[in-house]
Amino acid sequence: MCGIIGIVGNSSVQERLIDSLKRLEYRGYDSAGVAGMVDGKLQRRRAKGKIRALEDVLADAPLNATVGIGHTRWATHGAPSEANAHPHKSGRVSLVHNGIIENFAELKRELEAQGRVFESQTDTEVIAQLLDSELDKGLEPLAALKATLDRLTGAYALAVLIEGEDELVMGARRGSPLVVGYGEGEMFIGSDALAVGPFTNKIAYLEEGDYVAIDHATARIFDETGKAVERKTQVVSASAALVEKGNYRHFMEKEIHDQPEGCQRTIAAYVDALSDTTTIPGDIDFTKLDRIQIVACGTAYIAGLLGKYMIEQLAGLPVDVEIASEFRYRNPAISAQSLAIAISQSGETADTLAALRHCKAAGMKSAALVNAVQSTIAREADVVWPIHCGPEIGVASTKAFTAQVSLLTTLAVAAARARGRIDAAEENRLVRVLLEAPRLMAESINLEEAVRNIALEVSKARDVLYLGRGPMYPLALEGALKLKEISYIHAEGYAAGELKHGPIALVDEATPIVILAPFDSYFEKSASNMSEVMARGGQVIFITDPDGARHAPAGAKVVVTAPKCDPLIAPLVMSAPIQLLAYYVAVQKGADVDQPRNLAKSVTVE
Ligand code: M6R
Repeated sequence: MCGIIGIVGNSSVQERLIDSLKRLEYRGYDSAGVAGMVDGKLQRRRAKGKIRALEDVLADAPLNATVGIGHTRWATHGAPSEANAHPHKSGRVSLVHNGIIENFAELKRELEAQGRVFESQTDTEVIAQLLDSELDKGLEPLAALKATLDRLTGAYALAVLIEGEDELVMGARRGSPLVVGYGEGEMFIGSDALAVGPFTNKIAYLEEGDYVAIDHATARIFDETGKAVERKTQVVSASAALVEKGNYRHFMEKEIHDQPEGCQRTIAAYVDALSDTTTIPGDIDFTKLDRIQIVACGTAYIAGLLGKYMIEQLAGLPVDVEIASEFRYRNPAISAQSLAIAISQSGETADTLAALRHCKAAGMKSAALVNAVQSTIAREADVVWPIHCGPEIGVASTKAFTAQVSLLTTLAVAAARARGRIDAAEENRLVRVLLEAPRLMAESINLEEAVRNIALEVSKARDVLYLGRGPMYPLALEGALKLKEISYIHAEGYAAGELKHGPIALVDEATPIVILAPFDSYFEKSASNMSEVMARGGQVIFITDPDGARHAPAGAKVVVTAPKCDPLIAPLVMSAPIQLLAYYVAVQKGADVDQPRNLAKSVTVE
């Protein structure tokens, strides 16, 4: 939920800490701070708000340190304020934290009883105070850190400075990721490969419970029992260039445009384009499964819903899709003959990870459908099915969504073939349809101008309804989620058939109603819903295809005509208009598109 970085450098670290925090800002942006060792003394600078505010502080009071730590925060305990901003400091200790310490209240009472005085409302300050109290007992830094970690319940990734230790940064992880970066005579720790990307591409991922001490040349890593361990280093491709906006105003805009390529790479990884067949790694016997259980959150959950439509329709294999935060706590009926699929862009979503663990504990084989292949979810699942859309930085998920849907659609074709529901010729045809998707998605993105023209009107609305049937229903949910998260307009997605069961009461002249309806087997029903809405004064934005545009009842305020395509890939082709609508409404309202209020890209706390 927060981003952390630690550097033992040979030259000033201020600029590099800021550079890294900007790359981590997608994880949270309520406040930011840095600390460094200056002439053997700890100094810190903090600011409420985004990294820009911290840069202003540093312009007035630079941090002339070669060893330092940094943090960008998404508030959990304690409001966003300078006092609650990291790094937190206690005596000889300054540290940054990503995660939640669940037993902080109990530890705080204990430390206060010893006369320690707290200056923030955060759970993190407890770690700093506890570590300082262990140092006061005469323990060496690493032993003090271990003693501190042993007292913590909850999730953490930490970067720690100790006054008097001029060339040392310590780190630790449990439940929140932490990588070690190996530079040339310099060492780094950070929340992910992007954090250290500009400085090195040689990294090691720490395992659960690990802690580490870095100096100029080495990383000494220990497991949770205190045993010295080696963690494999690898060269990663999360290069600095991959996370630039290029000529786009926002990452979201760029990522919408990245989608055809991301889907093309994803589909290519799971089909053989020479034989037009599917190739799903992981030795899954779809004939032996009684069910697929998908667990996910947010947009990834909506991708899962689309997966259900596709897999059940094509393969006749039952699919349950559940919001991970519900699944993990409600004692669901689980069968060991089912396959669990955890869908997560980041691979670090706390609820999805917990739901995956729940499935594994029940004996299910598990697959991770992730973008971040080194993530915790990827590493814990039996099989990893990466999407290949590149790093997604905008908080609103776009290209990860369509890449997830591409992969699930390919999976549906593979399962259908394996279960004998389609023959080889039909598999070949469907694979060719899939391979057409990127081109048609690019055509759909070309509707940008048409969609931009609707944005002004929609930006004035208080509420917006999104309606769809069949696979367009999950897409209606996704359209509503996109709009509300970046433009702060209340929006609801509904199965169009539910209209008369409640939502029609919301329809008036001021309510834009987005109806998603390609000319498929559901079209007539959706067209009737459109007429019902217009009869009540509703302002319909009709997103369809050329045949749908021809057959639509007259009277829509706007008709957006996406390219004609096979129903298999309609969710992919119809995604861009709803994403672009949300995007341009947010731009129109002057909202912070890439970093909407109260949100963070990666929800690593429940
Ligand atoms: O990293 P994940 O895919 O697990 O994230 C799940 C959700 O937090 C995420 O999709 C969220 O809903 C997005 N902000 C939606 O745009």
